[in-house]
Amino acid sequence: MSHAETPIPLKALPGNALSGRMRPPGDKSISHRALILGLLAIGETRVSGLLEGDDVLRTAAACRALGAQVTRDGDGVWRIAGVGIGGLREPGEVLDFGNAGTGSRLMMGVAGSHPVTVTFDGDASLRKRPMGRILDPLTRMGVTVAEQAEGGRVPLTLKGPRETIPITYETPVPSAQIKSAVLLAGLNAPGTVTVIENQASRDHTERMLGLFGAQITVAPHGEAGRIITLEGQPELRGVELAVPADPSSAAFPIVSALITPGSDIVVESVMTNPLRTGLITTLLEMGADITFENEREDGGEVVADLRVRHSALRGVTVPPERAPAMIDEYPILAVAAACATGETRMCGLHELRVKESDRLQAVADGLAAAGVDHTVTGDDLIVSGDGTPPAGGGTAQTHLDHRIAMSFLVLGLVARDGMSVDDGAMIATSFPDFTPAMRRLGADISEG
Ligand code: S3P
Repeated sequence: MSHAETPIPLKALPGNALSGRMRPPGDKSISHRALILGLLAIGETRVSGLLEGDDVLRTAAACRALGAQVTRDGDGVWRIAGVGIGGLREPGEVLDFGNAGTGSRLMMGVAGSHPVTVTFDGDASLRKRPMGRILDPLTRMGVTVAEQAEGGRVPLTLKGPRETIPITYETPVPSAQIKSAVLLAGLNAPGTVTVIENQASRDHTERMLGLFGAQITVAPHGEAGRIITLEGQPELRGVELAVPADPSSAAFPIVSALITPGSDIVVESVMTNPLRTGLITTLLEMGADITFENEREDGGEVVADLRVRHSALRGVTVPPERAPAMIDEYPILAVAAACATGETRMCGLHELRVKESDRLQAVADGLAAAGVDHTVTGDDLIVSGDGTPPAGGGTAQTHLDHRIAMSFLVLGLVARDGMSVDDGAMIATSFPDFTPAMRRLGADISEG
């Protein structure tokens, strides 16, 4: 499934108010982890609501290559017959992760900690992303990086040690991918692995490890950090899991309804884990009319139906400490900010530069193409609006980045002359049903 060769230009035009209900696809972070822990468990893991986007399908393929049986029932339930910790098979092929940073980095922790040799590769976007942040702790755990592209990038080959070394590791940036790679590698280490984070990042790995039967403790550290301790070589047992809807995908219909006059929608079953809801916090501060209905627990996470109505938004300052809880949501927040009154200042966005694209630059360029007043100062993005939609009429370059594509299509729903994106094919990595789902709410998005 290679989208890179066949771009799909898309265009969004202003039109109807949005109405109706929709359920965004399953959470991408949880979907990757469910497959990976299913691989490492003994017995069968059954997963409903899995995100069937390209990124996650790559992880499923990698699990198969490492020895798991992964199948999908007719009713959409995924079954993973795991090999158990220590039981990975050496794959006969390169593991091609496509666009998937999370899948590839987490799997480096898994495969690197086993005595197998595994080569990782990906698309043009993944080949640009830094892997040194994962290779550094893994090397300390005894993993050999046999080959790597310049600057610690894929394609790269890892050779696992005979016995993985349990370490204590302080993550240099608040990144759930780094934390998870170390914890997953620690599963095959004889002893205790400790990860120290100075700012808490999403905690799905920790929660799910507990669910699968690992001995894991999480304690507060400093003002906003955590210390996570995992006992190595547990016996993980297959579980039944329901994947909640992805708040990072829900962000697109939510902001669409907030900025499109007359809109009133319900976005169902959205995971409201506080380490993922920084965007909602920010939007509420901006004056958004969002109410939480029917809060309940689903798959070890709290979910709610979010009712969202068109709102007059005002600019706010988003503090850098909030970045880990909304790291993937800055592009769509910039779109909300473009339609708000006053200045929105988003601070401390350096990690955006190493996402599927240099997202800070891609957002700034897209805003320029839409005629939005903005500046980038160091790691801060400042967007100014007067409460009316921008002119639009331009084309945003997506650089193989799904969230850039969806964000500028949302802006096109209100921009006077709409907005185009050069390529929407990558949307399939996280939200395969985006265009039809948005159309069902009344949005005018089409190819061309
Ligand atoms: C993810 C963590 C985040 C996020 C990514 C998914 C995860 O990356 O941007 O989309 O599932 O662990 P970092 O941990 O590198 O910030």
